[in-house]
Amino acid sequence: ETVNGQEHFDALIAADARVEPRDWMPEGYRKTLVRQISQHAHSEIIGMQPEANWITRAPSLKRKAILMAKVQDEAGHGLYLYSAAETLGTPRDRMTADLIAGKARYSSIFNYPTLTWADMGAIGWLVDGAAICNQVPLCRASYGPYGRAMVRVCKEESFHQRQGFEILLELANGTPAQREMAQDAINRWYAPSLMMFGPPDDDSPNSKQSMAWNIKRFSNDELRSRFVGMIVEQVKVLGLTLPDAEIRYNEETERWEHGPLDWNEFSEVLAGRGPCNSQRLARRREAHEDGAWVREAAAAYAARQTARDNA
Ligand code: 3HC
Repeated sequence: ETVNGQEHFDALIAADARVEPRDWMPEGYRKTLVRQISQHAHSEIIGMQPEANWITRAPSLKRKAILMAKVQDEAGHGLYLYSAAETLGTPRDRMTADLIAGKARYSSIFNYPTLTWADMGAIGWLVDGAAICNQVPLCRASYGPYGRAMVRVCKEESFHQRQGFEILLELANGTPAQREMAQDAINRWYAPSLMMFGPPDDDSPNSKQSMAWNIKRFSNDELRSRFVGMIVEQVKVLGLTLPDAEIRYNEETERWEHGPLDWNEFSEVLAGRGPCNSQRLARRREAHEDGAWVREAAAAYAARQTARDNA
């Protein structure tokens, strides 16, 4: 069965076709997908916290409604992605337990604090903008449930990015203090957003295999370069600047180049020693505990339904 399975799997990958849950797949393929999809789901769920911090302090009802819709979208993306990961045989409870125990990774970017309202703009424009650069190619990931989940997610991300850009545009055209607040938020979120794409290619242990399996379509540096090329134009519309004097387009390599990134800071954040790691996990634990009664009630109700249906 394995011999035919391996041939069948190799043929699917060679044909750039979709691998579905019931297809035979190498254990390594399954493992790296559970790793990436569960991390992606955790990122969406933890990513709700930095923005939720400003829902009760939004400057207008319109902004409050938009921000609530965005945070709800992130929750939905998380549930979508946990479902995709479950098709690989990993129960949701185990993924949640790993996250709560601090044993699961989630995107580095969500371990930074949101200090002012302008951060809502910088997160929408930069973080969701980076997410779009990363997630559009994932729509073509070889694993069916993951690629299909990404199509829906990407549609909502573009709304997230546009509303963030609009917040910054309004501030940039506002009072000098508002303009300064927008520039300060861009200064703080620029480098962490570039690091969201992962370590430099020659420091990326998973990339080679992930690209051979048509999970990752472009390297970390390629997508980072694409992102820089996007925001260096958009920031002109804001009349603001990116905190990086070394951005330039390299005609030979056809890549956008940027200043050095602090990969030591990146590994500190990944090691759980970022500005907000412990606060993010504590809040996630608290939400899990506060929600226990809902899970128990739903399970009791489901058990009663089943008993009644089988009576
Ligand atoms: N944050 C945390 N960990 C990261 C990371 C990041 N930004 N970038 C890389 N890592 C980890 C990897 O998980 C890997 O560690 P592991 O082997 O222990 O899991 C290690 O650093 C080396 O990185 P690699 O490049 O070898 O790993 P990958 O091939 O997995 O590439 C990735 C990293 C590009 C982030 C890839 O995992 C990916 O595309 N993930 C899906 C996209 C995603 O997770 N996006 C997160 C943002 S979600 C979001 O932004 C929500 C939006 O609505 C705001």
